[in-house]
This record gives sequence, C-alpha cells and structure tokens, in this order.
Amino acid sequence: MSQDPVFVRQAFSSIAKRYVLTNHVLSMGVDILWRRKVANIVRDFGAQHILDLACGSGDLAAEIIKKMPHAEVVAADFCAPMLQQARNRGLPMLLVADGMKLPFAERAFDALTVGYGLRNMETWHGALSEMSRVLTDQGHLVILDFSIPEGWMKAPYRFYLHRILPTVGGWLTGNKQAYDYLSESIERFPSGEMMCDLMKENGFVEARCYPLWGGISSIYVGKKG
Ligand SMILES: C[S@@+](CC[C@H](N)C(=O)[O-])C[C@H]1O[C@@H](n2cnc3c(N)ncnc32)[C@H](O)[C@@H]1O
Repeated sequence: MSQDPVFVRQAFSSIAKRYVLTNHVLSMGVDILWRRKVANIVRDFGAQHILDLACGSGDLAAEIIKKMPHAEVVAADFCAPMLQQARNRGLPMLLVADGMKLPFAERAFDALTVGYGLRNMETWHGALSEMSRVLTDQGHLVILDFSIPEGWMKAPYRFYLHRILPTVGGWLTGNKQAYDYLSESIERFPSGEMMCDLMKENGFVEARCYPLWGGISSIYVGKKG
C-alpha cells in the first residue's frame, strides 16, 4: 500500500491555515488530550533528544516541549506551509524533511514521535525503518494515529468518518477532497496487532498498542532492538 506524496503535500498545503481549528472542531477537542498522553509517555521514558516527525502545525511538539522543557525537541515535516504554522507558534527547532529519507545520522534521537503522520507517508514499512535508523538502540517510537473501533462503535464511527467528517472538513477548509482522503486513508491504515507486527518487521523488538476511546485512535509504543 502506498500514498502519493505529491497529493499529500498539496492537500496539507491547502488546509494548513485552518488545520488546527478543523481538528479541534472535528474531534470536539479530544485530540488535545491524546497528544498530551503521548507527551506524558515520552516524558516517562526520560528521553533527551526527541524528533517529532510529521509535526505539521506543531501541536504535539509543543505539548512535548511543555512537559520536557530541558529536552532537545526537533520538529520536522515535508510540507512548508504546515511548518509555517508551527513557526508562527514559536517552536524553536523546525526543519523541512521527508520522513522517507531523514537528514539525520543513525542513532541521532532517543525518542521519536509521529502524530497522525505515518498513515500519510509513501510506504509505511519504508518510513518505519527510517525511523528505526535514526533512533538509538533501546530508543522509543511513539505513534498516534486513527484506527477503526471494533464492536458496536464501528458502524456509527464509519458513518461519522465517511459522511460527517468530509462534509464538515470541506466547509471549514474549502477542500473536501482532503477530508475524503482522510477517511479513506484511515480505512486503509493497519491498526492494533497488524500495526505492531509492521513495527516488529521494521526494526522494533517490542511493540504495543493502546487503544483510545474504544479504538477511534490508538497509541503504539515501540522499542528499537
Ligand atoms: C495530519 S498532519 C499531523 C500533524 C501533527 N503531527 C499533529 O499531530 O497534528 C500530517 C502531517 O504529516 C506530514 N507528512 C506526510 N508525509 C510526510 C513525510 N513523508 N515526511 C514528513 N512529513 C510528512 C504532512 O505534511 C502533515 O503536516
């Protein structure tokens, strides 16, 4: 399964200015709590050199910096207009970089976070092995992304995903196509044990899944061997 990087970059460029507002509206603010959870996990690992990849407007990197003011937090994204939003909020270390080919030496970071970003990368296995390359041995990867819940929530969630989300996202940003893509990409993206297996196939010895809110999002924590 592969994503088209030209389409992805263009889609995020076109919604960059309304991205944060639209996120908070569509999730009713819950996305803030989920990013905070990721920041708490990274803080508990005691990491000092952290890469927030696919940082977009910098929401997750800002949360990590708040929790760990003495850590070095580099935030990178391949879409300059999204990165500009992060610059506007005063994030210190920002870089235009492609997750498929990171401009960092091997073992440069002891933790790497990626919030709602891996799903959009050209190939998931290529991106995961690149993440593993730049992590120290025993370094941690923390992924936050959407997933499809099981059980009774599945049908109403899919209704929301395919009917409500693209319509409201389209109204707020003027680009419904970007939100149609979002729904489709969530359907395609592996979740639960499938994602843990993918992590283990690409450089991580341990991988665990922590479903959030019945599984509408999930946090995956991996440790490099
Ligand atoms: C949904 S946004 C997530 C932004 C932020 N992490 C958050 O939690 O809100 C996805 C971001 O992934 C970035 N992205 C997608 N593919 C990428 C790649 N190959 N390399 C770097 N960034 C990428 C996009 O430009 C976009 O800013």
